[in-house]
Amino acid sequence: MSTLQFDSRGGLKHLLTLEGLDRSTLTALLDRADVFRVAPGEAPRRHTWLAGRTVVNFFFEPSTRTRSSFELAARRLGADVLNLEIGVSSTVKGESLEDTLYTLEAMNADVFVVRHKDAGVPALLARHAAPHVHVLNAGEAHVSHPTQGLLDALTIRRHKREFAGLAVTIVGDIKHSRVARSAVQALTTLGTRDIRLVGPKSLLPRKGELPGELYTDADQAIRGADVVMMLRIQKERMNKASVPSAKAYFKRYGLDAARLKKAKPGAIVMHPGPMNRGIEIAPEVADGPQSVIREQVTNGVAVRMAVLQSFYT
Ligand code: CP
Repeated sequence: MSTLQFDSRGGLKHLLTLEGLDRSTLTALLDRADVFRVAPGEAPRRHTWLAGRTVVNFFFEPSTRTRSSFELAARRLGADVLNLEIGVSSTVKGESLEDTLYTLEAMNADVFVVRHKDAGVPALLARHAAPHVHVLNAGEAHVSHPTQGLLDALTIRRHKREFAGLAVTIVGDIKHSRVARSAVQALTTLGTRDIRLVGPKSLLPRKGELPGELYTDADQAIRGADVVMMLRIQKERMNKASVPSAKAYFKRYGLDAARLKKAKPGAIVMHPGPMNRGIEIAPEVADGPQSVIREQVTNGVAVRMAVLQSFYT
């Protein structure tokens, strides 16, 4: 996997995972994204980096943020965008992923942005893609969500400037979370050492599976944190037995104003979305002054522009 995403000169040919990307590559992508960033209300500039190119959104799982932001990113760079409607595509007649790829390549598709519930699908497409084609992982099972990891890192950098010395607490369903995995990969490479992963025992990864200290006590894990990243309970990836009731979960792990007070003053609150309000986060916190949740969405477009542009510079 880690070599598949690089070209013969070590440049990024596909983006399948943040694993194996060094600090200078991540920093260059974040710097580029900072330039593309446009605050809500401002008119985004049109660019021509991807003029004549076609980007295919190839989403086998639901998405609001990732799919829309990839579409906007590609259009703002001058590309054509094809949103393949999986439910009415020939994949439902049994056409394989490889044959779908070859079919769209024959229509001059250049970039495939893929989300799939099965691990290994982005790498499978990258192995079968034509030499000029780029594959971008937009969410792979519980394994990886690299552009989410980048947008989370960008959001943290814009507020905290440096990664070293930060305490970052990630709360919730870590076990099923591709967001947590990619965030931890990005933060570790960028120099954060104090990463705390907290949730019910049944929703924590195995000890040593991810860098970071494991906790089951949310108050203890949030104490003194600079960043509190809440995760969605992913009912679709777990068996029912592993989920406490919503009320019990919120009491032990939900972020409300009282629990947030245990973090450092000025700590930021993040959530990748979609949120289960009242289950993992209280509305007063989600919409409160420490929340950067909507800013994460804004940064998502910029990060996706940066990654797409990197393929054509
Ligand atoms: N954060 C995230 O991946 O959101 P969507 O599922 O809406 O794309």
